[in-house]
Amino acid sequence: MADDSTKKVVLAIETSCDETAVAFLSYENNAYSSLGQRLYSQIDVHKEFGGVFPMMAKREHGKNLLKLLELLYLDTHAKSEHITISEHAKQNALATLVRESELHTFFETALTDSTSILYKKPNIDAIAVTVGPGLEPALWVGISFAKALALIWNIPIIPVNHMEGHIASVLTDIAHTENKTSLFPALALLISGGHTEVIQIKNWGQYQIIGGTKDDAVGEAYDKVARILGLPYPGGPEISKLAQQVRDTYSIHDAETICKKENIKLPRPMLHSQNIDFSFSGLKTAVLYLVRDLKKISNTETLTDTQISLICFEFEQAVIEVLCKKLTTALEQNQDTQTLIVGGGVIANTYIRKHIDTWCTENNIKFLKPETELSTDNAVMIGIAALVQMNHGYETRIEPTVSSLEKLVARGGWRIDELY
Ligand code: KG4
Ligand code: ZN
Repeated sequence: MADDSTKKVVLAIETSCDETAVAFLSYENNAYSSLGQRLYSQIDVHKEFGGVFPMMAKREHGKNLLKLLELLYLDTHAKSEHITISEHAKQNALATLVRESELHTFFETALTDSTSILYKKPNIDAIAVTVGPGLEPALWVGISFAKALALIWNIPIIPVNHMEGHIASVLTDIAHTENKTSLFPALALLISGGHTEVIQIKNWGQYQIIGGTKDDAVGEAYDKVARILGLPYPGGPEISKLAQQVRDTYSIHDAETICKKENIKLPRPMLHSQNIDFSFSGLKTAVLYLVRDLKKISNTETLTDTQISLICFEFEQAVIEVLCKKLTTALEQNQDTQTLIVGGGVIANTYIRKHIDTWCTENNIKFLKPETELSTDNAVMIGIAALVQMNHGYETRIEPTVSSLEKLVARGGWRIDELY
């Protein structure tokens, strides 16, 4: 795969939350391309509990990683070299997996079969892996897997910050070319299940967090509000579907009038504070009280479907209003901004996309967002982030030796503005 001096190929691994993903990515002629991805979403496993359980996520990652890599090889017809693996390398690789019982079992079995993919060394420059932020038990599975592969294949690892991955996910949106002269300075709005952050970007690798949530992330608020309303996990797609039904039936003005008549009104937390901070926990709590009050008024234990849909509509209006207001404040403080980059699961929301698009047009700045399927967690964005780092010379390359790899650890709270 990596056959000329400018072409680079990486294998990327993502296990920071409830998506297990592997992908091959290439960079060539200014273009970042996915050569293929295999992603297994654990949503169905976590659905009945209404949220993600770290230890369950860890087990699922461990059960699926090697299988997904095998499928990725098949999908992409990955070029590889048949290798022998020394007993010493096998023992070192298995030693890195001692804390990962499921993965250890699968890896050990594959090592006994010389036709398994472990003996097919791919023609890649590096293995990119998410090391944070995220759920540490989940992160460790991907990291340990990357280490074991690095040891048997003798390939370096590039640790990637998951949030830089969400930023890099937009690079497939600009006709596969990276035009750095007009991209920066940029602002990034990262809206996911774990984060709500506004970041000032001077250039690749130069990030400063200039605003964020004081409590819950916006995706988390979607998930918690869905739970309050008796809707399934994850809440984002469910709430946005019901809100869209309201917008399909009524004009925004009429829907707002109906909400008022039905006593459905939610606050816009921190809308008028002069900073770029958010409080989505306040919005969630307001939904909780609203539901309690509506039940009291009608003297019932359940809300009607109409009430639920109207709450979803009003909730989404509040989210959009707050996001756009804070973007305006961020832009006022950073008037040389050329581009707004928006990443994270919540930007899978078509209505929020449309609003932010309009906001960018009104403010005369470029809007970069990921393809919808790259909004939520995936390995493609992790691979692109590693390739961006390599292209801009700030990657942390960890050599595939036992002593170097010892330093590679999960960093659940890793901020994007901290160096690795
Ligand atoms: O980026 P992501 O996959 O994982 C984290 O890094 O957290 O984001 C997941 C979040 C969940 O909270 C989910 O409810 C939200 O993204 N989400 C959405 C939509 N699709 C996913 N929120 C609003 N509208 C959507 N269509
Ligand atoms: Zn994410």
